[in-house]
Amino acid sequence: MALSFRRRNLSRLLYLVAGALFIRYFFFSNISSSSSFATTRSHQIEEHNFIERATRPDKSLNVQRHKFLQSRIGRDEREEMLGHVIRNGIDDYWERYQLPYILNRETAPMDAQHVLSAIDQLLSLNGWVAALCPTLTRPFGQNRYGDTWDDIVRQDNLYYFAIVIHSADHFLVDQLSVIVQMAKRLGTNNLFVSMLDYDSTDSTETLIDLCEAVLTLLGVPFRIRRVPGMTEDPAAAYYPLEEAFMRNLALEPLKELKAKRGIQFERVIWLKGFTCPNDILETIKVSFANEAAMVCGMDWAEHNGFFIFSDRWRTRDIEGDQFRQSKSSSKPDGVPPRDKQGAARYAQHLPFQVFCCESGTHVVDPSQSYYKGIEYRAGTEYQNLSRPELLPEREGDAPCLDSSQAYFCRDLWVRSARDAMEEVDRANAGITNPARPRRDLPEDDSVGKRQAGPAVVDADANAGSDYDAIPAEEGGEIVPQAELGKLSIPNSVFRPARILVNPRCVTTYAGVSHTQLALDLFGDGDDDAEGVGKYVLEDWEGAPESFVCQEQRQTGGRKAPKTQRRLGFSIHDELQKSSS
Ligand SMILES: *[C@@H]1O[C@H](CO)[C@@H](O)[C@H](O)[C@H]1NC(C)=O
Repeated sequence: MALSFRRRNLSRLLYLVAGALFIRYFFFSNISSSSSFATTRSHQIEEHNFIERATRPDKSLNVQRHKFLQSRIGRDEREEMLGHVIRNGIDDYWERYQLPYILNRETAPMDAQHVLSAIDQLLSLNGWVAALCPTLTRPFGQNRYGDTWDDIVRQDNLYYFAIVIHSADHFLVDQLSVIVQMAKRLGTNNLFVSMLDYDSTDSTETLIDLCEAVLTLLGVPFRIRRVPGMTEDPAAAYYPLEEAFMRNLALEPLKELKAKRGIQFERVIWLKGFTCPNDILETIKVSFANEAAMVCGMDWAEHNGFFIFSDRWRTRDIEGDQFRQSKSSSKPDGVPPRDKQGAARYAQHLPFQVFCCESGTHVVDPSQSYYKGIEYRAGTEYQNLSRPELLPEREGDAPCLDSSQAYFCRDLWVRSARDAMEEVDRANAGITNPARPRRDLPEDDSVGKRQAGPAVVDADANAGSDYDAIPAEEGGEIVPQAELGKLSIPNSVFRPARILVNPRCVTTYAGVSHTQLALDLFGDGDDDAEGVGKYVLEDWEGAPESFVCQEQRQTGGRKAPKTQRRLGFSIHDELQKSSS
């Protein structure tokens, strides 16, 4: 069965690739070389001109009016293997079967219609993972009552879809079909797609041609960009730094659109792996309902015939602990989040608060993050193995050299606290509205001692190994107790960052048995429909005072070894660091 599945996928892929090449050729290269396309369009977002500024500046994402809203940068133009054979075939097809029927300008819309319906067929979600989406079990009947998302659609918000591709062609087509579905629901002028190809060496390039063609035809604004790797030698690469670099580049158009055209997006959606369109819409809804800074899905990977929670490198529960590597069918006492509240809400399929997450597709509110100047970053004190240098001596409380997402989460916590304090200051100064944070900062400096939680040892969590995490046999689960000093002001006094995991937003990969996964997670019964109203989390916890820091201290790419320690986290200290 697996074999036939693969064979079927393969022939579809060939079909798609042929389609992509054809569309690309048909639309973009009536001049001799296909490279002309990439260079004829400007990729710079243009500022409003003098007249526009004086009248009413056009803030729409209208690709017909503004050509710069669709751009492709840095396509790999090296000659491909068998490239000339393919080109000959396309030429032949073009000259014998297409050209004779292209009569004049008037029939052009009909030809475009032809191509559009061909795309619809290609991406009709038939056969690809997405085809299963409407049939999968979800709690609260959200698949059956498809109209649940109309309120979101009606709001006419702008959404920014960001994808980073690093030799991951296996789900690009599915992601494209999800984007096409989302564009249909949200309106093609309500979204912007940013794709960053970081030095892919597989067939990503060709599949991105397909993406470019489809987005162009549908009139969806986009920027597709390819960049070379940061270092030639993979051993000299530091993965957290690459993560930050890729993420920030994928966000460049977001910032340009705001700076130059005053266009602001309501939410940024990072697509990772494959997520059903309805699950994304629901996560957006959860994000709005909670005014959340970030809402993540949950990423499930296949492992020895089971599905296990993936992305334990970047996800921490609200007590700072690592998630368990649970199976999708885990019993209530062995579910991914270890904290009580999180586990209880997870069991009810409800969103729960976390210290940090990324796990699959996630939705970020740029007004609480990117528009405030928060960027992705990484630690700098790593050891570069391609340089003959000594391992730097690191203190027990030296900054954690973990993922760029972990940095991002900590930045969100600190920022949220600072914003609240500034609001209080402003209110006290009697300048603006008296919006108050949840809790005020106490007057005196002498509250409580920092208590680190016990070291995390959990036999259940040794079930397998995560791609990004470290295997248990290398000490992955043993987190030494940190020696933590005094915490002058507890984190609980500061306004919390609103970071949630929505367990109903399942992210996974092609070939996974989605039906089984959905049954494991949600059973076959329906939850109480009341649950829809429980989107909102009423009680928000402060940041944990310590967290499991899983770090890469050396270069060596994505799979460089990781070590763990428990590290204190004091928002007060962070605030003082950032203000000094
Ligand atoms: C490590 O050192 C090499 C050689 O100097 C350099 O090319 C590379 O960029 C460095 N890597 C990082 C991540 O700093």
